[in-house]
Amino acid sequence: MVEVAVVAGDGIGPEVTAQAVRVLRAAGERFGIEFSFQEALIGGAALDAYGVPITPETLELCRRSRAVLLGAVGGPRWDRVEPERRPEQALFALRRGLGVFANLRPVRVLPPLLEASAVRPEVAAGVDLVIVRELTGGIYFGEPRRREPTGTAPGSVRAIDTLVYTTEEVDRILRVAFELARKRRRSLISVDKANVLESSRLWRERVEMMARVYPEVEVRHMLVDNAALQLVRAPRQFDVLVTENLFGDILSDEAAALAGSLGMLPSASLGGRVGLYEPCHGSAPDIAGQGKANPLGAILSGALLLRHSLGHEEAARAVEEAVEAVLAEGWRTADLAGGSQTRLVGTDEMGALVAEYVQRGKAA
Ligand code: IPM
Ligand code: MG
Repeated sequence: MVEVAVVAGDGIGPEVTAQAVRVLRAAGERFGIEFSFQEALIGGAALDAYGVPITPETLELCRRSRAVLLGAVGGPRWDRVEPERRPEQALFALRRGLGVFANLRPVRVLPPLLEASAVRPEVAAGVDLVIVRELTGGIYFGEPRRREPTGTAPGSVRAIDTLVYTTEEVDRILRVAFELARKRRRSLISVDKANVLESSRLWRERVEMMARVYPEVEVRHMLVDNAALQLVRAPRQFDVLVTENLFGDILSDEAAALAGSLGMLPSASLGGRVGLYEPCHGSAPDIAGQGKANPLGAILSGALLLRHSLGHEEAARAVEEAVEAVLAEGWRTADLAGGSQTRLVGTDEMGALVAEYVQRGKAA
């Protein structure tokens, strides 16, 4: 029995997560995997129900599970909540609590979606890269983090965030990236801001050291501003891109524009005993409850769960192939719509199409 904690969260989170669960059940039936899904509230939903964005019980449920499927958290309703209780805190508690320091965000431009890409088709064609984002360190977690009076004038304050990395934190994420590169096209681009930041200079030194352990992997350093440019100018040069927490957050949204929609991107957060799987997109409060969100990022996160937590490559591929096949047949959610061949569907129908394909192993 494979126990999966389902924390769907806020906004479109529950809608897209339901489709990921549906597709995982279909894969389970086809490949003989028995899933048990346990649901719990997280983010704003937990805040409303219990006064905290994640309860100790929910964290414990996630810790005990084989994998966690997460939707999205947050929304304007909770924007005025004090920082320690914001819905996003639940994400950080989960990431830290599960020790998932390595966030993998694969970005593939699927042929049927070439037209939907934000860049020209000849630039986007064939893009197949993975962003390896450090997830439990850097400025997201660094201390001190506070506000204090500057003392120079009444009402004058300074806000302090701290960007800090240790050699251990850098080495463990680099190891994940080198190992991944070794299994792919053996090319690694490490992104930093070593012309300005001390933490980046340490990062770069550690990359140099580890590169000696992986002579088969070709390594390049790239400054983050240039990386932002190169991602839209010549994205095919990237195979594995490894970077620190905040840079990875920003660059992965940018890379999503290549794939046609932020709604397409899945992610896997690894490094602990339990894997955490979530689409890269947010809670999209503007379209929540309308049944038109793109569930493919969540569904593809389910494929990553099959691959990384269960080691079931065949089932993972079956889900990925089903997504491609359904898109090739012209089915699109609103975020991807456009073009004459479009067959517009909602969240639920899209999930049903993929699930059906997975179950039969071919088109209906
Ligand atoms: C992401 C999101 C989160 C992050 C937010 C919701 C805190 O943008 O997973 O990329 O910044 O890590
Ligand atoms: Mg982000």
